[in-house]
Amino acid sequence: MHTWLITGANRGIGRAIAEVVLEAGHRVILTARRVEALREIHERYPEQTIAFPLDVQQRTQAFFVLERAESQGFIPTVLVNNAGYGLVGALEDLPPEAIHRQIQTNLCGVIWLCQAVLPFLRRQGKGFIFNISSIAGYFGFKGTSLYNATKFAVTGLSEALSQEVAPFGIYVCSVAPGPYRTDWAGLSLEKAPTLERLDPSSPYYELHALMAERYAQMDRQQPGDPRHIGRVLLRCVEMGWAPRHLILGDEARQVWERYTFLRNFPELQFISHEEEAPTRA
Ligand SMILES: NC(=O)c1ccc[n+]([C@@H]2O[C@H](COP(=O)([O-])OP(=O)(O)OC[C@H]3O[C@@H](n4cnc5c(N)ncnc54)[C@H](OP(=O)(O)O)[C@@H]3O)[C@@H](O)[C@H]2O)c1
Repeated sequence: MHTWLITGANRGIGRAIAEVVLEAGHRVILTARRVEALREIHERYPEQTIAFPLDVQQRTQAFFVLERAESQGFIPTVLVNNAGYGLVGALEDLPPEAIHRQIQTNLCGVIWLCQAVLPFLRRQGKGFIFNISSIAGYFGFKGTSLYNATKFAVTGLSEALSQEVAPFGIYVCSVAPGPYRTDWAGLSLEKAPTLERLDPSSPYYELHALMAERYAQMDRQQPGDPRHIGRVLLRCVEMGWAPRHLILGDEARQVWERYTFLRNFPELQFISHEEEAPTRA
């Protein structure tokens, strides 16, 4: 049995991963910005879970969660850095506060949690860190430069960290889903103000109009089932091994076929919607 720590475990991919691993009998340190949003899942698995408030932008809060979890006998062996969201719109039109928030959440959040959890994994001489990047962490799309920047950074951080901590028996994996059915493209999406109100005076009006239409069509219609991601990560942990890069979903395969440079990444594997386990190297 493993003890997983999952950020943003209240909905979307984080919630789905939590459910899959709890059903398999593992324990989970559930975290979310609003701890009340974790009540239902905690009440369903009272013995297997503990729940804490955690805004991943807050480094001290991350360390506090680990301290309290340890005092209750929950010592993590698996970290899933899942919390994150998309900031979209032309770079020129993005307000500085929105840019800072995106970096603080999608990148610094991953760093703080790695720093807080690594001492526990090192002491146990084993463990897994799954950093939820994105296919946007491997190639850029117009209109999502800041999201791309943070996800590329998560991919790079994971690639380097995996080598740094391998001698301690710790696997670090950059997990890059294609589109999966969550609130990512709807409720959670932060838009540049000129995209939000489709401001015709913005030089990026045409791009923004296209993006607004694309996200409206995409919202909650994405082909991927978030539980699939949970099953893939669970299989890695059960196998006692994870590749450095996992590209997930059928749409991601199109990208994989188009961007041949991806094949030069060491230990990169593609997993379609039907598959559930990477092939051990
Ligand atoms: N869905 C996709 O197609 C897709 C594809 C590639 C990558 N991803 C990545 O997958 C991860 C999960 O996204 P999702 O698709 O599940 O979207 P989602 O349904 O919008 O869930 C996002 C989660 O992140 C949490 N979060 C946001 N900012 C946070 C913060 N500062 N501190 C703690 N939690 C925070 C949210 O908490 P609140 O409820 O408090 O807002 C929520 O639990 C993200 O990193 C996203 O970039 C998603």
